[in-house]
Amino acid sequence: MDRKKIAMWMYSNGGGDVIQNKLIDKLKERYIDVLSDINLREAIAKNGHIIHNGIKLDKLDLMFSYNAGEQTQYQLYIYKALNNVIPMINEYNSFELSEDKFQTAFLLRHNGVQTADYKLCHRDDTHHLKSIMKKWNKMVYKPTDGWGGRGLTKIDSQETLDMLMPFLNQMDLRYFYVEKFIDYDNTDYRVDIVNGEFVGCYGRKAGGNDWRTNITSGGSVFNREANDEVVALAKKATLVTGLDIAGVDIIYDREKEEYIVLEVNGIPAFATPEQEKMGLNFNDKKIDLIVDLIEKKTIKVEKERRKRKNRRLK
Ligand SMILES: Nc1ncnc2c1ncn2[C@@H]1O[C@H](COP(=O)(O)OP(=O)(O)O)[C@@H](O)[C@H]1O
Ligand SMILES: [Mg+2]
Repeated sequence: MDRKKIAMWMYSNGGGDVIQNKLIDKLKERYIDVLSDINLREAIAKNGHIIHNGIKLDKLDLMFSYNAGEQTQYQLYIYKALNNVIPMINEYNSFELSEDKFQTAFLLRHNGVQTADYKLCHRDDTHHLKSIMKKWNKMVYKPTDGWGGRGLTKIDSQETLDMLMPFLNQMDLRYFYVEKFIDYDNTDYRVDIVNGEFVGCYGRKAGGNDWRTNITSGGSVFNREANDEVVALAKKATLVTGLDIAGVDIIYDREKEEYIVLEVNGIPAFATPEQEKMGLNFNDKKIDLIVDLIEKKTIKVEKERRKRKNRRLK
């Protein structure tokens, strides 16, 4: 069997470096060599090729991109081009979708996956926001491209909305995205899915008086078993987004008495060494599923390349 070669760009903090080494070792056993630290920030596109340190990335069998902290516009631009010629994990289109809260919520709802009720309106149509407020009583303003709970603003009265409007107008936004504020117990489920399979689950709890479960907003991680309903919901949400690897955030809506998907993350972190000590033990399973996935995708490319070659020879 021919050896395969793939590019990898993965985060190294919080134990990421150890995970990366395990992935590289396991891939080697499957005849897949890894070029690591392929930061597309340093790549250039030149005519038909995308070049990184003298290597033509477009000739590789796949690229694994797994670094949430450092994605720039430039990287995403190259990501998109590269993915038109080689397979990537995650696929660009799915990754881009998952980076946008409105695009994700829209597609999920269109496919029958429960989310928080939301509304998107043009920035000049702020009268909509007033009528929505009357209906919902409480809502959350969300930047569509935020993370870590940043920029989320709870609006719990007409006065708060009136106060907020001048600030929002000043920000020169194209649109407003708001969600109904969900009555929940300030805990969530994070469910990891790889290649359509359930990997593991943990919970997060908001800290103090905060209503956001993000660690960066003072939340904390705890051991939490998934149940069938939560796993099925996470799988369905992942399927709709088309992500090969996903971390689905789920909360329980006490008013509607159902689970809803809050967010689908395209680069869900592995458990950190501290979290592993706490009992979050899904890392090895996740590594194995990712290795299988990479192998499957590179075999598929080889088959297609062979077919094309044979056609040319005929
Ligand atoms: N509609 C909502 N109702 C109540 N709480 C919410 C709502 N949306 C988000 N939250 C809380 O805020 C946190 C961050 O929201 P999320 O949409 O996941 O954005 P981020 O990308 O910043 O993590 C969630 O984990 C949840 O605790
Ligand atoms: Mg989130």
